[in-house]
Amino acid sequence: MESLVDDPPPPAPGDPSGASGLDVVLTTPRLWLARFRPEDRDAHRALLDAPALARLLPVPAPISDELAAAVFAQILSLPPEQLHLAIWRKAPRALIGSIGVHQDPRDRHGAMSIGLGDAADRGHGLGTEAARAVIGHAFTALGLRKLWFDHHGDNAAVRAAAERLGFREVGRQRAHCLLDGAWVDWVTMELFAEAWPPPA
Ligand SMILES: CC(C)(COP(=O)(O)OP(=O)(O)OC[C@H]1O[C@@H](n2cnc3c(N)ncnc32)[C@H](O)[C@@H]1OP(=O)(O)O)[C@@H](O)C(=O)NCCC(=O)NCCS
Repeated sequence: MESLVDDPPPPAPGDPSGASGLDVVLTTPRLWLARFRPEDRDAHRALLDAPALARLLPVPAPISDELAAAVFAQILSLPPEQLHLAIWRKAPRALIGSIGVHQDPRDRHGAMSIGLGDAADRGHGLGTEAARAVIGHAFTALGLRKLWFDHHGDNAAVRAAAERLGFREVGRQRAHCLLDGAWVDWVTMELFAEAWPPPA
């Protein structure tokens, strides 16, 4: 996954953070969450091809060039209130994943998605850090009343992160998905704004 590493340009004058060139929406201690730019096409394609993320897609892997291009074009054309952000690690600077909240403006709920492409970036709290920032933004700046997401029942990492952040399971379709030759559950979790932030 070295191809995701973006040679860090020298910080621009007046931009000691090193986030120059990025359209940053949210900043956390170790991350920038920024809108995808046309020049992020290859990094986004690498995310789609990462095995841990490819297994989440409802299409056979590897994803075709045409579909990958269509997905990326759709991301670039999203209106600003529909967040689908690149997760940038600050040091060393690299685009390492994506996180989204696709909101329903009528009912004011949002569907979350998250993925870190490289196994080396997982398990260090970065996913939780990104999700915490996006959840806070969704409940305050976007005014959503509820967030939800679905996950495979064997996904211990997202389950643990979600519970830590206050999500609760509200539905489970048993033996719903065929993954790596085994039937796994499909689980829905939700979090209401009034339950945010969760008790420390
Ligand atoms: C899900 C994901 C975003 C979580 O981000 P992360 O940075 O790896 O997770 P964190 O380091 O913040 O850890 C979150 C929790 O999961 C636990 N965890 C991390 N990796 C784990 C693993 N492989 N197995 C079990 N638990 C794990 C951590 O201990 C932590 O629990 P805690 O809060 O109780 O201490 C990341 O693992 C990922 O991108 N996975 C592949 C894509 C994916 O599954 N996306 C979600 C689809 S619904």
